[in-house]
Amino acid sequence: MKLLTAQEVFENPVSRQGLPAWTYNNAELTQLEIDQVFLRHWLFVCHVSEIPKRGDYQCLSMGNERAVVVRDEEDQIRAFRNMCRHRASRVVADEKGHCGKSFICPFHGWSYNLDGSLKNIPRSDSFPQIDRQELGLKTLDCEVWHGLIFIRFGGSGLSVAEQFTEAEEEIGLYRIDEMQSLGRTYDIDFNLDWKAVLDVDNEGYHVPIGHPGLLDLMGRSYVDQILNCGLSRSCGSFKDRKFRNDLNREYAEALPDSYLPVSHQHLWIYWGMFPGLVLTLFPDQIEIYQFLPRGSQKSVMRGISYALPDDRPEMQKARKLNQKINTAVGGEDMDLIEWVAEGMRSSAFDGLMLSDLEIGVASFHNQMRELLPVMTLEQAPVAGTLQQVNENMQSQAKVALVQ
Ligand code: FES
Ligand SMILES: [Fe+2]
Repeated sequence: MKLLTAQEVFENPVSRQGLPAWTYNNAELTQLEIDQVFLRHWLFVCHVSEIPKRGDYQCLSMGNERAVVVRDEEDQIRAFRNMCRHRASRVVADEKGHCGKSFICPFHGWSYNLDGSLKNIPRSDSFPQIDRQELGLKTLDCEVWHGLIFIRFGGSGLSVAEQFTEAEEEIGLYRIDEMQSLGRTYDIDFNLDWKAVLDVDNEGYHVPIGHPGLLDLMGRSYVDQILNCGLSRSCGSFKDRKFRNDLNREYAEALPDSYLPVSHQHLWIYWGMFPGLVLTLFPDQIEIYQFLPRGSQKSVMRGISYALPDDRPEMQKARKLNQKINTAVGGEDMDLIEWVAEGMRSSAFDGLMLSDLEIGVASFHNQMRELLPVMTLEQAPVAGTLQQVNENMQSQAKVALVQ
């Protein structure tokens, strides 16, 4: 595993200062991030076990784009635009559900087979010549990786599996494809830029002070590792620790024998994938959460937990205790997120000062600057010009690269 050193992450001195404050409060930039980052990268939708029957579906939206993933008649997982080809209504209204053998548009009743092909048009004689082959639901890139369903609205590049190559060996230990939802999901809305929320999550420097419970659980074993492929890995061990915190002690004592190798039975591991996904591996369950923009000063943190079926009372107890510990950690971060964001809105704010222990934040900022060079500017471009300024800077960067 090739890790980036702090020296490499901070090669450009500007990386120490973090992104400029204006990038956390600029509606034009948020739109550009949606268009050029989120609509061109893989987004996690759900686990295959959450759409177990043919006709089961789940939806995901980003910006103005809507997707639906469905299990078709051949048990294939497919992804489509959730948009009728007649007059663009959603073809499924709910976030998830079962649509039977076809999608039936709620507006005029055009129907589509589960493979996306057009099935029926009511009063089709009222239309002039129609090429039915051309009028199926529009497809989206879809990849099932270890039972996790990802979609991509546009762009190209590495598959999910390719992007996670460095994590493959470790993640393969967890048998994620056999897992099922624990029914613990959350959608936390923030009236903040998505990066302001992600930044707080993106480093372990704050753990000793910000998360006393986690410190007690993992001590100083916690490390952040940054890879050069948009991946990061953070990890801490609670093996042979003497706990002060009762929750931690009860959790460690409750954990029963595990299917994992000894090396992984006492680790909490967080794999991060650009732009905003975190796959957390615990010995008793996994949790996936992602940070998504929902507009200017609006974002959401979506999370869900999965685990192998296991009725043993001690495993049930360990899972509950794990969730208690993590609920406390989440609560502690909520305050920090608000306090940092309010500071960055202050007229006195003049940039961050990142340490070698915050390379997760710096590396994420570097990736954003690379994709959207407009974010290197100290001041926001004049209103209405941001997209053009960014395009010009992208062209200049390309020319510089050729020369
Ligand atoms: S918009 Fe779907 S049938 Fe008319
Ligand atoms: Fe935190």
